[in-house]
Amino acid sequence: MRRVVVLFVLVAAVLTAACGPSESSTGNEDGGDATEKAGTAGVGPSPRAPGYFFIGNDMGMPRPCGCSKPALGGIVRRMGFFESLPEGVSKGSLLVSGGNLIHEGGRQQELKLETFLQELDALGAAAHCLGADDLQVGSFFWEDTLAARGEDGTPLVSVNVTKEGHRLFRSHVVAATPEGEAVVTGWIDPTSAGWTEPGLVAEESPDVADVVGALQEKRRDLVLFAAASAERAREFLERSGLGKAARHVLLVIPGISDIPWLHPSPPPPLLELGLKGQRVAYIGSLKAPVLERFVLLDADRGSETGRSLLEFYRENLAAEDLLAQVPRFESAPAAYIGSKACGACHATALKVWERSGHAHAWEALEAKGDEVDPECVRCHVTGFGLIGGFDPASSAPVNVQCEACHGPGAEHAASRAPTPGGTLGGDFCLQCHDVANSPHFKFEDYWPRIAHALDDK
Ligand code: HEC
Ligand code: HEC
Ligand code: HEC
Ligand code: HEC
Repeated sequence: MRRVVVLFVLVAAVLTAACGPSESSTGNEDGGDATEKAGTAGVGPSPRAPGYFFIGNDMGMPRPCGCSKPALGGIVRRMGFFESLPEGVSKGSLLVSGGNLIHEGGRQQELKLETFLQELDALGAAAHCLGADDLQVGSFFWEDTLAARGEDGTPLVSVNVTKEGHRLFRSHVVAATPEGEAVVTGWIDPTSAGWTEPGLVAEESPDVADVVGALQEKRRDLVLFAAASAERAREFLERSGLGKAARHVLLVIPGISDIPWLHPSPPPPLLELGLKGQRVAYIGSLKAPVLERFVLLDADRGSETGRSLLEFYRENLAAEDLLAQVPRFESAPAAYIGSKACGACHATALKVWERSGHAHAWEALEAKGDEVDPECVRCHVTGFGLIGGFDPASSAPVNVQCEACHGPGAEHAASRAPTPGGTLGGDFCLQCHDVANSPHFKFEDYWPRIAHALDDK
């Protein structure tokens, strides 16, 4: 196994943790059919009774996506939310994770998956139903993972992921719910899984009959996670006979809505999970489902266990030195000399820069140990991904130097050749100040805070 550090797994039943104080917070986000609350550890009203919790579609965000406030979601906040539930609610509730914990392949995504699975184990989730994106790490990763987990932890469920004719994951689980028992299963639409390993997602699901059997045995409820469009999910429900065999049905899909969304009609009700794990969806009853959303807002009251899981994730990034493995393709057009050297002739610009956040961008990462994470480093250094630019071995040049914008300046400094960056328009900033990481960015507002020009002669 390639696993480097092994954390002692926390198969603690967090779902029976102690109660936090309650004070109500934000209201409806959209005026739709659902209520939205600040679902942070100890903040905001908790659900009043045991019910059904849905998480997932994290899209590779074990911590919040984005650098600016408000930062929403992530493992620390989510575990804090579940830890703060009153015991009366957590006992007897069903927690299901819908697929797409990650959104691409690669070693960093594998490390994320391991972290997410440890979270689910600690939360006592009834099942993680795989989505097509979860398969992007390839079948070998999952075979290793299944072998290492054995019968422990959250069951990994999919009725139609096969390798050489054998089903890889469990076809379904039967779980206790506040209303009796539910069969929880997952299905991946083969027509929307084109980029996964060929043959992994089967057209025909060999074990659907078993799942139908489990439903009929006691006329159980069905929670079907379908990695599919709403239309295809409904089609599958009909064609497979699962819908008919169940007492009450809830269809869950990753969906395209930013926030969890419940569509009560046409029946059966269908839940979209929302994006990037920023919210928890709660439904009190499958008989007459009404959605409540909990925004995962407050990190200060987050979970200690969650924090140690993230710590473990960063340790693994560092131990495997993923930063050093980022491919560097193009060569920088000249050598980098650093802001101080530019300051010899551009004293005022240097002063402005030294006072700006750009001069401290690396420290901002170091504060939490994120300087080992390639996904963070790329915007907090100069010349990332360029031969001659940021070098993980020496960690230079760090910060957003003059040359992150104007291009490497050795030739300019030596011979007054024009700087390679040329004239920079406002759009240039967007490569780092993107919607996720700098949602309030407007050139008119941000430029004045770093405005500089040629010194008067
Ligand atoms: C290479 C990536 C990158 C580029 C390009 C970039 N920025 Fe930034 N910027 C950052 C990072 C990272 C921070 C946060 C640094 C910190 O505070 O630790 C930041 C912070 C800022 C801040 C807030 C900090 C302060 O000093 O007040 C302003 C303003 C800003 N950038 C303006 C701009 C403008 C205007 C542009 C385009 C001309 C630009 N940035 C281009 C990465 C970039
Ligand atoms: C796409 C570029 C980009 C990526 C990727 C990125 N950042 Fe940032 N980061 C920025 C920008 C731009 C800002 C400034 C945002 C603003 O003030 O509007 C910033 C600001 C920050 C700040 C706040 C600094 C301060 O002093 O307020 C922290 C902390 C931070 N980033 C950490 C991270 C971490 C951790 C990651 C990886 C999970 C990350 N960043 C990934 C561009 C990025
Ligand atoms: C030895 C002195 C010197 C150094 C060092 C120097 N510059 Fe300049 N720079 C100048 C002078 C003089 C001009 C005025 C341009 C001209 O009229 O040729 C200039 C012009 C510029 C311009 C506007 C014209 C253009 O080429 O885009 C930028 C941008 C610039 N410098 C950025 C930088 C950066 C970034 C660095 C550090 C990598 C740097 N300079 C280092 C002397 C210097
Ligand atoms: C975040 C990006 C960014 C950083 C960092 C930055 N600049 Fe600039 N700089 C700009 C932009 C944008 C302009 C104005 C538009 C242009 O001339 O391209 C500018 C303008 C200039 C000019 C005047 C150019 C002219 O033709 O009038 C000089 C000189 C200059 N910068 C030097 C520097 C030096 C030296 C540093 C570091 C101490 C630095 N800049 C850091 C983005 C940046």
